[in-house]
Amino acid sequence: MKYKKYFRKTSLKQKGVGDFFLNEVAIKKPKIFLEVGVFHGVTARNICELLKNLHGNDFKYVGLDLFEENLENKNEVIPNTKFSNPLKNIYFNYIKKQNPYSLEAVEELLKKFKNNVSLIKGNSNKILKKIDMSKVDYVFLDGGHDYQTVKNDLDCCKEVIINGGTVLCDDYDLSYAPGVKKAIDEFSSINGLKCSIICNDRFARIQKN
Ligand SMILES: C[S@@+](CC[C@H](N)C(=O)[O-])C[C@H]1O[C@@H](n2cnc3c(N)ncnc32)[C@H](O)[C@@H]1O
Repeated sequence: MKYKKYFRKTSLKQKGVGDFFLNEVAIKKPKIFLEVGVFHGVTARNICELLKNLHGNDFKYVGLDLFEENLENKNEVIPNTKFSNPLKNIYFNYIKKQNPYSLEAVEELLKKFKNNVSLIKGNSNKILKKIDMSKVDYVFLDGGHDYQTVKNDLDCCKEVIINGGTVLCDDYDLSYAPGVKKAIDEFSSINGLKCSIICNDRFARIQKN
């Protein structure tokens, strides 16, 4: 399947990265998918299309995001929510009259899958520990990039890996967010897990040995 951008912003915009990502997920055929860091919902939509192809209606996508500028954590890398393409600005500001980085806009982008989708607005540092991870079999970790947040998110997802699932982390080797790599390396080593760095150091795939 080809990764589509749906006229929105996504962190998987680099040529070939989205297709690589979908292929990586398809190999595992997950049924209950959690994405931490939904942003405009582009990856969410691609994942729902993929899981629908694989399983018909028998899948679930859970997405968690702040869905607002993070003013609490001063160490956080803030994603640029503004479009450089003027056509996209016109489309969202004057035609759709919608902020694409809002829960409502992402709900609309995913509406054809509404029975399979749960979107949660909140901070992963507070919310993830309340999510039942026992059935989740794939996590795409792409939320906060601060060391403490990535450490928290990985600790909360440990059960998924212990149960045989996969945690795929984005931005493993990002020069301006070194906390991501530090947290992943520590987590894998402390827990004796297999961590594979793939797609030109872009993703870290964590699994049981
Ligand atoms: C890089 S973007 C995610 C991109 C998306 N996964 C994609 O493929 O297009 C990171 C997102 O994580 C969210 N975020 C940052 N810190 C967070 C936190 N502590 N809890 C939940 N979401 C967070 C940001 O608001 C932003 O929307």
